[in-house]
Order: sequence, then structure tokens, then C-alpha cells
Amino acid sequence: MAEKLPPKKQNRKPRAKTASIQKESIPSPEENETLEKPTESVDKYLELFENATINEKKSQDISLVIEGQYKETLNHMMDAYNANLTCGLVGPVGVGKTSLGRYFAQEIQREFFWVTFSDALRPAHLLGSFDPTLAFKTGLHKEAFSFGPLTQACLEGGVFLANEVNRGDDFLLNIFLDPLEERRLYIPPLKTWIKVNENFYFIATMNPAESRGTRKIPEAFKSRIAVWLELDYPPSKLERQILDHNIQDLTFPLEEDLKNAIIGIIQDLRQNSEVETPPSLRSGISISRLAITTAQRMGKTEVTGTILRECAMLVLKESLEFSSPNVDKERILSSIINRYIG
Ligand SMILES: Nc1ncnc2c1ncn2[C@@H]1O[C@H](COP(=O)(O)OP(=O)(O)O)[C@@H](O)[C@H]1O
Ligand SMILES: [Mg+2]
Repeated sequence: MAEKLPPKKQNRKPRAKTASIQKESIPSPEENETLEKPTESVDKYLELFENATINEKKSQDISLVIEGQYKETLNHMMDAYNANLTCGLVGPVGVGKTSLGRYFAQEIQREFFWVTFSDALRPAHLLGSFDPTLAFKTGLHKEAFSFGPLTQACLEGGVFLANEVNRGDDFLLNIFLDPLEERRLYIPPLKTWIKVNENFYFIATMNPAESRGTRKIPEAFKSRIAVWLELDYPPSKLERQILDHNIQDLTFPLEEDLKNAIIGIIQDLRQNSEVETPPSLRSGISISRLAITTAQRMGKTEVTGTILRECAMLVLKESLEFSSPNVDKERILSSIINRYIG
């Protein structure tokens, strides 16, 4: 026999009554209790949302390996900053440009704001836009305006990182000309110019011009960036340190020879002329983390060659782009992986 259904809740409010809540848009606690599932699920996600909300002031803690090119670049960034000059970081995807920008903001104890450029980015994403609900009440006034990250950084004197600027169009980049040159910013929806806080500091990052999806950045913008600093894939020793740094939280480390194997595979692929988008620092970190976690799940206390081979394939196979679409990715990858993992 089918299980008996539980009796229907008796205290459910009739529809007409629920509609009367309209007068007061936030239901009272008692009313909240009586509203069924949808409210419970909204509450659940509201609570999770509250807990997950990032407060930049508290969450800036970023720890990096500041050695070699990272130390040098950070020094140059500090010099540029102290000389009142804007700087840009150039380098392939995943060498640490964004991380270094964030680290820099932490070093000079400023709020960090950033936006990553793409075809989909609009001026409103930088400057802000009207909140429709508030605008409905107050009209199109500044009280109903939700300030975007660039406006916020200009107002409070934060570090603004324009990430991957050569993926954005000229129209967007032109927005930065006034804050950089004249220390003023125009906000079209408010028809207002604001003075840029004297502590505002701008950093741009970009991928090398030959990277996929990049444009030539306009001269007017380029000339506002006084110092362009290059970051490249780090040498083996430094990349090994970065690997170690990024697996510290896991239960056991990687054997030296396996670490060397990962670096070997990655560097081999970076030099391979058939590979269009070579593996970044992220790939090495991901292979290491996946291998350690897999070994742990299998009840082992160290990573074996077999596990590492499998994880390297899982991470690299789809992330790599080869110049010709007809190459047998798996065959090329297997032969490289097998060369380093016996
Ligand atoms: N100096 C470093 N020390 C520790 N980890 C680093 C360092 N540089 C980069 N990483 C790690 O490498 C990954 C890619 O860095 P990211 O800054 O996103 O690169 P990019 O902006 O150049 O694409 C991140 O997971 C980051 O934590
Ligand atoms: Mg980045």
C-alpha cells in the first residue's frame, strides 16, 4: 500500500491574504514562518549569500612566492608607484600578472578593484548604473546609482587593475584617459565629473599581442602607461617553488622527482612549436593538486607514477590548443608524459 501522505499544513495563508503582503514588502517573522517552500529556499540562499559575500578589506590576504622575476617586477612596480607613474604587466596567460597586482595592492594597503576585459564588458560595468528598483522610487538621481568598481576606486583611492586590457575595445579603454591624465572621471548617466582621489592607482595587464582574442590597444591609452613590465614563464627552480607554495594545504607533498617530471612535461610543451596555447602555472598546480588528492582517496601516502600520468593527461588534454586541428592530441601528450614519468 502506498505510504500515507502527511496531512496538509493547516496554518497556510489563503491566497488573498498573501497578496495583501504587498503593502509591506518584507514579511514579518510570523508571516515568514507560514510561507512555505519558496521562502525557505530564498532564506537558505540569502544566508549562504551573506556568508559568502567577500569583504575585500578582509579578504585581500594573498600569499605568493616573491622571488626572481616576481621580486624584480614588484620592485619596479613600487618604483613606478613612488614616481607617480602608471605601470602595466605583460605576459602570457597564467604567469601571475593578476596575482601580482593584488599582492601589490596588499603591500601598499589599498583596497583592490579589478575588472577583466572582454567583448561583453560595457562602460556601465566600470562606471556603474542605475538600480532599477531605487530609480523607480527616486527617479534617475545619484541616490539610485550603483557605483561600478572604477568609480569606487577613483572615489576612495584604491588600486584599480584593468585586467587583460587588450581584450577590450577602444571605446572602453578611452574611459581611462581622463582619470589617468586629468585625474577626473566623467559618469555619463549622472552627467557628472568627479575628482579622482589622489591615492587612486591604476595597473593594466595584458597578454602578448599574438594571443588569441587580443586587439591592438590604442596609442592614446598605451602612452598613458609609463612603464611596461614583462613577466614570462618562470625558470624551473622558481616554478618548483610556486608548485610547493600552492600545495602546502594538502596532506602530503610531492616527491622531488615527480615535481621535476611535472615541470619537465610543462616546459617541453611550452617549447613545442605545435602547441598554440602552452600550459600555464595553473596547469602544473592543478596536476599536482589532483594527483595528491587522488592518491589520498586511494588510501596511499604518496603519489605514484601511474596516478601522476593519469592526472597530467586529465588536466592537459583539453586545456592545450594545438595549431593544427588534425593533430592527435592524446598521442602527442602521452609520448611527452611517458618521457618524463617512467
Ligand atoms: N609568485 C607566485 N607565487 C605563488 N603562486 C603564484 C605566483 N604567480 C602565480 N601564481 C599562481 O598561478 C596561478 C595563475 O596566476 P594569475 O595571476 O591568475 O596569472 P595571470 O593573471 O598572468 O593569468 C594562480 O593560481 C596563482 O596563485
Ligand atoms: Mg589574469
